[in-house]
Amino acid sequence: MNKLVIKGRKKLYGTVEISGAKNAALPAMAAAILTSEDVHLHGVPHLADVTTMVDLLEKMGIKTMGYKGGHENNLIKSSITLNTSGMNTYEAPYELVKTMRASVLVLGPLVARYGKAKVSLPGGCAIGSRPIDLHIKGLAALGANVSIDHGYVNVTAKRLKGAKIVFDTPTVTGTENIMMAGTLAKGITVIENAAKEPEITSLAEQLTKMGAVIHGAGTDIIEIQGIDRLHGCSMDIIPDRIEAGTYIIAAAAAGGEVEVTNCNPRHLDALLFKMKEAGIEYTETDNSVVVKREREAWLKSVTIKTMPYPNFPTDLQAQFMVLMTQGDSTSIITETIFENRFMHVAELRRMGADITVENNVAIVKGRTRLTGAQIMATDLRASASLVIAGLMADNVTELSRIYHLDRGYEVMEKKLSKIGAKIERVKV
Ligand code: UD1
Repeated sequence: MNKLVIKGRKKLYGTVEISGAKNAALPAMAAAILTSEDVHLHGVPHLADVTTMVDLLEKMGIKTMGYKGGHENNLIKSSITLNTSGMNTYEAPYELVKTMRASVLVLGPLVARYGKAKVSLPGGCAIGSRPIDLHIKGLAALGANVSIDHGYVNVTAKRLKGAKIVFDTPTVTGTENIMMAGTLAKGITVIENAAKEPEITSLAEQLTKMGAVIHGAGTDIIEIQGIDRLHGCSMDIIPDRIEAGTYIIAAAAAGGEVEVTNCNPRHLDALLFKMKEAGIEYTETDNSVVVKREREAWLKSVTIKTMPYPNFPTDLQAQFMVLMTQGDSTSIITETIFENRFMHVAELRRMGADITVENNVAIVKGRTRLTGAQIMATDLRASASLVIAGLMADNVTELSRIYHLDRGYEVMEKKLSKIGAKIERVKV
């Protein structure tokens, strides 16, 4: 087990390059199941979740070439080629689904191309119950037979038939699953109340390169005209907007001047709007944001509410909460996506933060000087918020259970060291 040791109160100066998006790479890899030809993906980040997806696909007999994996690997950009011609199983086992819920992304493509899939139900995870009922209802609407047995969902279909699906709530991986399933269904599939995240648009772009006919990705209504066969493609993974947002917040929290490059500021509008409201200076180009905070004055406390894209992302809620400990009064943070996403609060309190939680609302008192402590990562984005807290705090912070962080942040301590943070990975 590793931990991060952070010596706080160092201002950050320099450039951080953002990696490919985890949440775009995972569906892009699952989409390879839809064709027997090679799918080449470029700019795939080295992350534990990507390694899990590689393991899952290889277990099914899919060839994955080019990905080196492993946190120790310093390569920031790598390519991966996937080929399904040797596929021999159609199952996502519990051991993999329980470590990475996004394994469920193989469900739609498997049923669409092979007419069968057996995927473990994810069960509870650290940030809530996170069901997949909408994925299952969507596939049933496309004519699939669904049964649940011994913790697994079994889905079979001769050939899926296009239909209209109205999601009760926008679901990102649910929209991706049904969009992929619809590409090989007979007839037209319409998804209403679809998720609009940039990762959906990116997947639609990839599927279109593979020959699919899709309209409306990035809006509430997506229409997919099913066809008989998809072919291979070559696709660049879009920059990780959550990683970019995390470094933008880190720079604002620690102070200094940091250029965050290889990002798309348009994917970060909701965050940038709140940063401006909080009094943080930044400038942007088409693919970078420069954040500057030289003075030690308190920020303005602002209110945020997490909502589906294009609103404020739940995946940046924990990080923004840490920033709000530097507000001038009280910040109200409402989490509407996941029911148990305030686990970082207890750790932040140990560092001196004054935060109270009432149901899905956190009340963050500003004007707090955080102090270093021994703390524990609880989930992926909470871990990033605790790293930011360590960067701001007096003295030394020791963050354990950082395997959560490695699921979604590529060489975070190396990127932070490069801009002046005193942060080290230590084996324990
Ligand atoms: C994706 C992201 C994750 C992000 C989340 C919300 C990936 C791999 N992960 O997760 O980083 O935090 O979007 O932006 O892209 N829901 C149901 N039934 C379902 C599916 C979802 O009730 O069948 C609910 C969830 O409990 C949650 C909401 O819908 O309240 C949105 O979840 P969803 O968009 O599905 O999250 P993920 O796709 O799992």
